[in-house]
Amino acid sequence: MTLVIAIDGPSGSGKSSVAKAVARDLHLAYLDTGAMYRAATWWCLHQGIDLTRTDDPEVASAVTAAVLALPLVMGVDPAAPAVHVDGIDVGADIRTDRISAAVSAVATNLDVRAELRRLQRAAIDAEREGGSFSGGAGIVAEGRDITTVVAPDADARVLLTASEEARLARRATELHGDAGAAAVEATRDLVVRRDADDSTVSTFHVAADGVVTVDSSDLDLDQTVEAVLTVIADAT
Ligand code: C5P
Repeated sequence: MTLVIAIDGPSGSGKSSVAKAVARDLHLAYLDTGAMYRAATWWCLHQGIDLTRTDDPEVASAVTAAVLALPLVMGVDPAAPAVHVDGIDVGADIRTDRISAAVSAVATNLDVRAELRRLQRAAIDAEREGGSFSGGAGIVAEGRDITTVVAPDADARVLLTASEEARLARRATELHGDAGAAAVEATRDLVVRRDADDSTVSTFHVAADGVVTVDSSDLDLDQTVEAVLTVIADAT
C-alpha cells in the first residue's frame, strides 16, 4: 500500500523536522515544498531579478519566466534531502535571511505556484507509482497548501501548529543559538512578517475539513512525531 502524508504549518511550527522524522520512521520519501519556493527565489536572484519590485508587471513576468525554466532537482531522501539548482548545491544558501526575506514575493506569484504545484504533484505521483526513492511505499510532503491544494486526497493530512511564542523561540534558537529576548526580537520580523505575507495566498493557520490539527507548543520533537504517527495510524 502506498501512503501519501500531507503536513502543513506556519514557519517555526517544526514541520520540517517532524515530516523528516515521520518519513524516516515509515520508510517514505520526503518532499520539502518550502525548499522548492526557496530554490525558485535563489534562482530569480541568481538571474539578477529585483525581488523588491515584483509589483511591476515586467518584474513579475521575469519571475514567471525564470521559474518556468527552473533547473531544479529535489532530493527526497529524508536522511539527506539535497536541493540542486542548475547543478549547484543550494541546500545551505536557501536557508539564509537573504532568501527568507525575499521568498514571499516569489511564492505569491500565481504562475509560480501553478508551476511548483505541477512539480510537487509529479514528485508525489512518482512515489505512488513505485519508480522513485521509496519504491512505491509513499511520501511525506510538507508545506503550506499540501493538505488543501497539492494533495487534498492524501491518506493522512495534518496541520502542525504552535503558539507564536513557541515558534519564535524555536526559530531564534535555530538562527541565533538561544531564545533570549534579543534573539527572539531579531527573529520576530522574519517569522511574523513572512507568515502575514504568505497568508495572502494560502490559509495554513486553520485546518481545512478532514485535516487533523496537532499543536506542538508544549511538545518536544519526539512527542510531536509520536502525535503525528498516531494521526496517520488512525487514518489508515
Ligand atoms: O517552509 P519554509 O519556511 O521553508 O517555506 C518558505 C516559503 O515558501 C514560505 O514562506 C512560503 O512563502 C513558501 N511556501 C508556499 N507554499 C508551500 C511551501 C512554502 O508558499 N507549500
